[in-house]
Amino acid sequence: MAISEKDIVKALSTVDDPDLKKDLITLNMVKDIHIEGKKVSFTVVLTTPACPLKEVIRKSCEEAIHQQVDATLELSINMTADVTSIMPNGPVLSGVKNVIAISSGKGGVGKSTVTTNLALALSETGAKVGIIDADIYGPSIPTMFNCENDQPGVKVINGKNTIIPIEKYGIKLLSIGFLTPPDNAVVWRGPMASSALRQFIVDTDWGELDYLLIDLPPGTGDIHLSLVQNASVTGAVVVTTPQKVALADALKGMNMFTSKQVNVPILGIVENMAYFTPEELPENKYYIFGKDGGKLMARRYEVPFLGEVPIVQGIREGGDSGVPVTLEEGNIMGDAFKDIAQQLARTVAVRNANAGKTDRVEIKTWE
Ligand SMILES: Nc1ncnc2c1ncn2[C@@H]1O[C@H](COP(=O)(O)OP(=O)(O)OP(=O)(O)O)[C@@H](O)[C@H]1O
Ligand SMILES: [Mg+2]
Repeated sequence: MAISEKDIVKALSTVDDPDLKKDLITLNMVKDIHIEGKKVSFTVVLTTPACPLKEVIRKSCEEAIHQQVDATLELSINMTADVTSIMPNGPVLSGVKNVIAISSGKGGVGKSTVTTNLALALSETGAKVGIIDADIYGPSIPTMFNCENDQPGVKVINGKNTIIPIEKYGIKLLSIGFLTPPDNAVVWRGPMASSALRQFIVDTDWGELDYLLIDLPPGTGDIHLSLVQNASVTGAVVVTTPQKVALADALKGMNMFTSKQVNVPILGIVENMAYFTPEELPENKYYIFGKDGGKLMARRYEVPFLGEVPIVQGIREGGDSGVPVTLEEGNIMGDAFKDIAQQLARTVAVRNANAGKTDRVEIKTWE
């Protein structure tokens, strides 16, 4: 008996996406089913590029069809990805699927380093990525991308002056640093910085982006408020070192995002400077700032732990020279950021799939 599309759909409705915990048919992930005799082809549209579960899902599809329909079918499964979004329809950031705030309580814990390397790692998986450097006190993205002297363009679009971000290493960038000469310490008043950030969000042509990362200043302040007032933020990543004082401040930052008024979920915690390791002796680990602080915090407050990054001289050098480690072929530190990027893309997909439900993170008060 000839098999039909219905048979294939029925078999695939028994295959679950392990992250989203629903079947591929309910999730509307299966497209373009073609059947020609014993040859069956279809496309599975995943929610994250370079999904770590890609091969697991492909295998489950093959097994389901071979077991439930016909063991002799010849399958050709095309795995693609389309990053999901829960952004409201509207003129602001209309082509941007996800806005992700990169925050920390304490300064100097590595937000900008994490933002830079995560952007590059996400981009390497095929995602379209942009960065807004919103750190008024020390915008460091222009240095980390070696584009301090670049200037964003301005174009009239629909009768309105529109900012065109600069582009470096495939990432679209805007920084408060582009508005001030590098060596000229301009004292930015809060309202000026907030209005610059607003322009970066409202009056900028970002085109189509899967992820727009916002490198925030440390702590909680006007800029944070300005961000959540102007953009619908998918979630926040909290960067911390394992140190007690950094964790205490990180918690304050988490509480600000998850407070009733702000209502931005925490996508996860990145533990930076988890330990020092000399590049020539990578098996030696020195827990300078304490051990596992970020991990324990994630467990305690039931938010995802996205991964850890050790202190390595090359990471600092990459930041200063404007050639981030993630760009270096075969650099194992780049791999750390790639793992974190994968985890982040997963938590974004899970968050978007569960949007509308009460997936708020419960934060207990710091005792
Ligand atoms: N894992 C790491 N290994 C080595 N050096 C690092 C690491 N992470 C960050 N650094 C270095 O530490 C310094 C501070 O990092 P970074 O500027 O990313 O922190 P930040 O949280 O953005 O700081 P700020 O609060 O000033 O914005 C930089 O010189 C950076 O190169
Ligand atoms: Mg910074």
